[in-house]
Amino acid sequence: DSYYLGLDIGGTKCAIVLGDAKGRLVDKKRFETKADRGHKAILEEFKAHIKTLMTRYGPKGLLKIGVSCGGPLDSKKGIIKSPPNLPGWNEVGIVDQFEDEFGVPVVLQNDANAGALAEWKMGAGQGVENMIFLTFGTGMGAGLILNGQIYSGANDLAGEIGHVRMADSGPIGFGKAGSFEGFCSGGGIAQLAKIRVREKLEQAINVGFCSSVTDLDILDAKTIFEAAYAGDPLAMEIIETTAQYLGKGLALLVDIINPERIVIGSIYARNEALLRPLVLKVLKREAITAAFDACEIVPAKLGDKIGDYAALGVAMQ
Ligand code: BGC
Ligand code: NA
Repeated sequence: DSYYLGLDIGGTKCAIVLGDAKGRLVDKKRFETKADRGHKAILEEFKAHIKTLMTRYGPKGLLKIGVSCGGPLDSKKGIIKSPPNLPGWNEVGIVDQFEDEFGVPVVLQNDANAGALAEWKMGAGQGVENMIFLTFGTGMGAGLILNGQIYSGANDLAGEIGHVRMADSGPIGFGKAGSFEGFCSGGGIAQLAKIRVREKLEQAINVGFCSSVTDLDILDAKTIFEAAYAGDPLAMEIIETTAQYLGKGLALLVDIINPERIVIGSIYARNEALLRPLVLKVLKREAITAAFDACEIVPAKLGDKIGDYAALGVAMQ
């Protein structure tokens, strides 16, 4: 039987999924990205899994390989160009490499674009012609569906909103202090937490969820949300900062694109009840009223499966 393979390359984890001719998920393998492994080791690991799956499901059945990866990248040339959340991946020609190795067509796409298509076809974006998907995971990227089509721009950089500077200083994201990704991403929240917690500890102020500067490394987005749910005021302050910038970023998108719907993934989807009122308050204040009124803000629906469907969708396009 024929099948497709989808490769999902994320800042934290990677996955390879096998889907049948109808796009149903049949098999899956996950592994950690770990920045210090470098791209060569990761690509070798993918190749090994591809070979195992080809042996298991029949080498002749493989129709195409789709790769969903954080940008910047050039999908026409098939090159991954130094994504901020994949340190050391500079000008990686993954498409040529994998086509040579496996003899099938390989397609590369930005993960936010692939996620936008998946949510649009199967998730929270169904039924509209103009929608934006925001990843809000390890990094922050956007996929734009405009007039019922993905919009990639001149060379695949449309939707790279993580790079937009929101403040003159702040946590670093996408190589820039105070960028949207700096404030609104898993990595950004961790940085913001480290900055704020250090300030408190240096003033000898007790921080409930981190007792010493040597423990700063344990701080990540998850710890901060847990502390906020437990009522910690500093954790709540950090989340409010992120929510403020998310609201401002959404206002930019609402004013420029005038979408019917914005679908937000990972961190937002997992913490919607806490984030939504904070974010909407800012968005309502900042955006053109009629554009705000026309736009629904909703959490992504595909949950943990989004990366799988996104990658498989790239192969099936
Ligand atoms: C990249 C985007 C990507 C996002 C999520 C950002 O750092 O620039 O292309 O969509 O991370 O992975
Ligand atoms: Na994009």
